[in-house]
Amino acid sequence: MNILVIGGAGYIGSHVVREFLDRGHRITVFDNLSSGLRENLFPEAEFIHGDILDYTGLSRTAKEGFDAVVHLAAFKAVGESMVNPEKYSVNNIKGTINILNAAVEGRIKNFVFSSSAAVFGRPEYLPIDEKHPTNPENFYGFTKLEIERFLGWYDKLRGIRFASLRYFNAAGYDIKGRITGLESSPANLIPVIMETACGIRKEVQIFGSDYDTPDGTGVRDYVHVSDLAVAHAKALDYTSRNDKSITVNLGSETGISVLEIVEAARRITGRPVPAKIVGRRAGDPAKLTAASRLAHELLNWTAEYSDLDTLLKTSWNAYQKNHA
Ligand code: WQD
Repeated sequence: MNILVIGGAGYIGSHVVREFLDRGHRITVFDNLSSGLRENLFPEAEFIHGDILDYTGLSRTAKEGFDAVVHLAAFKAVGESMVNPEKYSVNNIKGTINILNAAVEGRIKNFVFSSSAAVFGRPEYLPIDEKHPTNPENFYGFTKLEIERFLGWYDKLRGIRFASLRYFNAAGYDIKGRITGLESSPANLIPVIMETACGIRKEVQIFGSDYDTPDGTGVRDYVHVSDLAVAHAKALDYTSRNDKSITVNLGSETGISVLEIVEAARRITGRPVPAKIVGRRAGDPAKLTAASRLAHELLNWTAEYSDLDTLLKTSWNAYQKNHA
């Protein structure tokens, strides 16, 4: 297939591009490089340096005969979305409306969207399946949910078949070590631990040790980015073959605590990884885990690389390559 990957130079986007290329698809990456990296681009893929807020350029590109668009271009900092909602409204929501309208103009029939577990908000039960109520606790999650609603209408009114993929905690790096671009100033746990192992940070702050979890620290469902990449390919197969839209959760279905990750990182990196327990971070639930049965049933997808050692070893490999 001929696929336009918007946000294809980013952390998840570059892994998705790699997977599609490995499967023999023709790929064009469209990215404004605001957080995406040139080093995440592959020579086999075409690259367009463009912005989703520039409708003229976007619609010109969309008319180049694509079978599908994969949309991963979004701001994703939860805290920032609460203090600067305008930025998230414009880029995430307005930018996506532009992509949808450009897809209509370009007659692109398939749409794969990076959604998030943030659409659910505070868990009412665990593990979280697709029937769990959606009630975002932050503006970032609200933008993802709004976009899902737009997708539903464009499906009905314009025949765009979408796959909305609600990622839980994406982590790790390409299992074959082909992608090593690092996010700058990361706030997510595993990159913070890696920066500490490299000596870029003094210590890891553990946000709370008094949660109702086995060791008192927060539990999350970490899903390897190479697993997510495979899910994108399978989701596109599904929408194109069945002419049907889907919304699925993507997680490993395994809860891992902050402390377990810190301890495993010490073992795997052989570095001390100093950690200090500090207060809870506002808005953090004690535990979040996914039910990914639907993705298994519809897409024949299960997480294969999302065990803690693979998450950390592939991350450490990328960090070591950059900070040798
Ligand atoms: C994981 C665990 C923290 C940093 C966020 C978004 C979510 C999704 C994924 C996009 C928690 C603890 C973290 C640190 C810590 N994003 N922690 N010290 O908050 O589960 O999910 O990213 O779709 O929407 O909310 O991820 O990596 O920030 O935190 O103790 O320095 O690690 O409290 O328990 P989170 P995270």
